[in-house]
Order: sequence, then C-alpha cells, then structure tokens
Amino acid sequence: MSNNSSRISGFHKLSVSERVQRVLQYAGLPAGELEPLFLNTGNLPAALADQLIENVVGTMNIPLGVATNLLIDGRDYLVPMATEESSVVAAVCNAARQCYDSGGFITSMSGTQMIAQVQLVGVPDPANARLAILEHIDDIRRLCDACDPVLVKLGGGFRDLEVRLIEAASGTMVVTHLIVDTRDAMGANAVNTMAETLAPHIESWAGGRVRLRILSNLADRRLARARCVWPVDAIGGADVRDGMIQAYEFAQMDPYRAATHNKGIMNGVTAVVLATGNDTRAIEAGAHAYAARRGWYSSLTHWEVTREGHLAGSIEIPMAVGLVGGATRLHPMAGACLKIMRIESAEQLARVIAAVGLAQNFAALKVLATEGVQKGHMSLHSQNIALMAGAQGDEIARVAHRLVELGTVRIDVAERELRALRAGG
Ligand code: MEV
Repeated sequence: MSNNSSRISGFHKLSVSERVQRVLQYAGLPAGELEPLFLNTGNLPAALADQLIENVVGTMNIPLGVATNLLIDGRDYLVPMATEESSVVAAVCNAARQCYDSGGFITSMSGTQMIAQVQLVGVPDPANARLAILEHIDDIRRLCDACDPVLVKLGGGFRDLEVRLIEAASGTMVVTHLIVDTRDAMGANAVNTMAETLAPHIESWAGGRVRLRILSNLADRRLARARCVWPVDAIGGADVRDGMIQAYEFAQMDPYRAATHNKGIMNGVTAVVLATGNDTRAIEAGAHAYAARRGWYSSLTHWEVTREGHLAGSIEIPMAVGLVGGATRLHPMAGACLKIMRIESAEQLARVIAAVGLAQNFAALKVLATEGVQKGHMSLHSQNIALMAGAQGDEIARVAHRLVELGTVRIDVAERELRALRAGG
C-alpha cells in the first residue's frame, strides 16, 4: 500500500506548477517527462484555467472540427464542434450536404425563459399556501427584477409564477416556479439569486420552511426547434427513407434504442455546446429529461414522409445556452467559435445547435438503415491500429486498407501486413 495520503493540506493554495510537481511526486511519475505535458495548456492560459476551476494542474485538449454545408434559415454557417469522437463532424457535413440544395434547415425557438424552483416543506395547509404565494405575484415580480436590473434593461426579467403541490413521502411539498426570461445568459446565476432572495418571503407568506432554491435544467420554456426536408432522391431512394423511418419508430417505442438514438443527437449538440464554452451537462440533463416528458423515454426527433414522398425530420430540444458569463466569455476559443458562426444572440446559437442535432440524427439513421456503422468505424479504427503497429507516412493508409480488406482489424495482423509491405510484399 502506498504511504502517500490524498489529504494534502493547502493544495488549492499552490501555484499550478507546484501542484503538478506534487501530483507527479504523489504518483511516483518522472517530472521531467510529464511536467511539460501538464504545463502546456494550449489555447487556455494556465492562469485563466486556474480561475475557472479549483486545483488546476493543466488542461485537457479535445479536437475542434468545423462542420460545413450548413444552410440554416437561409444563411450559411460554418459550425465549430469540439469532440473526441471520429465521424461526428463528417456526419453533420454529409447530412447537411444532402439538404443544402433543397433549402437546408428552418429553425425557431419557444423563448429564452428559465425556471427556478423554491421547495417549501412542512406546510400544514398546502392548498392554502399555494394560493397565498400566487397572490403575491406583483411582490415576486418586483423582488426578482430588483435582483438583476441589467437583465431587466436588456428586456429580460421575471415573467410568470407557478406553484405546484408535490406529494412526497415526508408530506406535501409546495414548489414555487419562478419563470424568468434570461435573454443572452444561460441564466443559472440570475434565477438562483432570485430564488434565494424570495425564500424568506415565501416562508412568511405561506408558512413552512424553504429547503432547495435552484434552477431546473428541464428548460422546457427554452425549446430550440429545427426542421428539414431531405429530397428522397438525394438520400438514396424510398427504401433508404423507409428504413430511416423504421429506425426512428424503433427509438420512439423502445428506451433501449432511444438512449442510443438520442446519444447520437447529443454527439452533435454537445460538441457545439462545448466549443462555445457552454454547460454540456445542463444541456444533456435537459435533453434527456425532456425526452422522458410523456412518462416514458423516447426520441428527441420526429421523422415522417411528406406528401411528395420526401423525408421530413424535426427536433425540439431544451437549449439553455448563453453568450455571457462563465467560460463562454472567458475561454478565448469559445469566443473565436462564436465569431466563426457570427452568433449575435443566445437564441440564434440555440437554433443552430438544434439544426446540428437534427443533422447528426439524420446521418446516424441513414448509416444504420443502410450499411451499418461498423464499416465506417472499422476503417477509422484500422488507421489507429496501423499507427499502433508502427506504420508511418503512406504505410498507414496502406496497412489500414489491407486490414479492412481482410475484415480483421487487429494489431497482430497489422504488424504482419506492415512487415510484408516493408519486405516489398
Ligand atoms: C455513436 O456515437 C452514435 C450512434 O450510435 C447513434 C445512433 O445509433 O443513432 C451511431
């Protein structure tokens, strides 16, 4: 057993390089080799990273690709995507190419409203308490708006009030929803402050005790929508179209399939969310909760055949992304990505992301309904295996090609093929 303890007092007070030294020492790793890896923080300066989170020892770089061919609401976009998964960026480019000539994507947004929840427990007369809170809507509006005059100046602020009764094991909870338009902010800070401010007032109007004061990631008043029609001839004919619809119906009816179907959508969504410095977990949580809103978990997209026989796809997904605050403002690369897309509002960004999610789903359904994913994955995987076997330069493509040809993507086969290639075989 190691005599190293993970209880390192004052670790957070050390500088980034001091922390790196401590960690390498702890792990018994050679500082000379690894220190430069940690201290090369790429496009996020170490000092800035150190401000964003705690106990920073480095950064973790992820490839940033650009999706092309995207025509959204009549405007061309190049969309930056940060992902470690191969095929994700190519899939969006392909899907978008197949609908470019027929007009691309049409998008809209339900609004930019977020919900904060205030949980009140121990109320003897919950129905009475509910109405008592609702009666104070004008006070609530005033208190909430006073929390964020800048937001109000920008056209945002308190919009509506909902009070729900939730039957729980410990009794009926009175849950107040503050509905707030947060405009270009993701809004977590704004609505959490409002919920916090309101808590003592709610206790005094309704009795009981406030416990939680926190936003909900089920941002169902901030739905981004995108739709698109793919001409049947552009996608390979009626059989491909019907296979894609059946793949969708599978996801609609079966949570095991829906989880993978939606994962594919989130491949695209999360990549743009990350590239723009937004909160990927908030978006993931909102998307999956929304996918289960009917009481069972289902597809985030919808696919059908138009009167003319073309394939129509649509998506509706909570999209709480912002342009102000957090990493979006601070990370230099996030700023650059927003500039590449010429994004002017959080709503515009949300709509672009919805279109990317739909394109990603189109690409997945098409490949699944036709050749299957393994063929494409295997050809990419074969390149990695060729590299691992020691192939260099144009040997990589040649060995990879041979592995696919043989239908066996294995390191021992790659080594054998490389030897044969070098021996002039
Ligand atoms: C892989 O990352 C994503 C897919 O599995 C999505 C899907 O099955 O729809 C291809």
